[in-house]
Amino acid sequence: MRTVIGSGLPEASRLIISEGRSDEPLTDHAWILKGVTSNTRYTERPEVEALASKQVGLARPDATCAALIPIRKTAAWWDLAQNERRAIFEEQSHHIKIGLDYLPAVARRLHHSRELAEPFDFLTWFEFAPQHANEFEDMVDRLRQTPEWRYVDREIDIRLSRH
Ligand code: HEM
Repeated sequence: MRTVIGSGLPEASRLIISEGRSDEPLTDHAWILKGVTSNTRYTERPEVEALASKQVGLARPDATCAALIPIRKTAAWWDLAQNERRAIFEEQSHHIKIGLDYLPAVARRLHHSRELAEPFDFLTWFEFAPQHANEFEDMVDRLRQTPEWRYVDREIDIRLSRH
């Protein structure tokens, strides 16, 4: 676990992922984060097509590496109009264009947390095979240098492996 910006999370040595409603009480945990999948906000039709033609699903047997990156954005970001956020996200930062360079090596799922009054706005999840770990680092480096990331005020980079 590495705190990229903002306050960190308590150390944890393993992660349990619960899908669906998880009402069972969990004991002995360092933290619990919740998110939901949702409709897209920024992706335009040609991008939908480009993503659909390259992306792969989660849980590939050889994708034993994962990253859970919880992210919160600033009040300034949320105060922007939708078209202003889209312009920063793609026209200025090329988030989708950069991400497409790493498909299908990296599989992903975005979860929204903001409406759940959670500590982060997003829980981002990525899976890749060990031989693509360097490419994954390359991608997060590129994204963190974009104008979009100036609006990120809390980010924890949690890496996981499955044996
Ligand atoms: C949102 C693609 C990697 C963090 C999005 C969206 C797309 C996308 C299409 C917009 C969804 C919408 O229209 O609402 C990709 C692709 C990637 C990638 C193809 C390559 C595997 C990453 C990485 C991170 C990240 C590595 C974090 C380090 C986010 C966040 C959002 C987002 C936080 C939500 C932005 C917002 O709504 O303000 N991504 N992404 N993405 N992505 Fe990525």
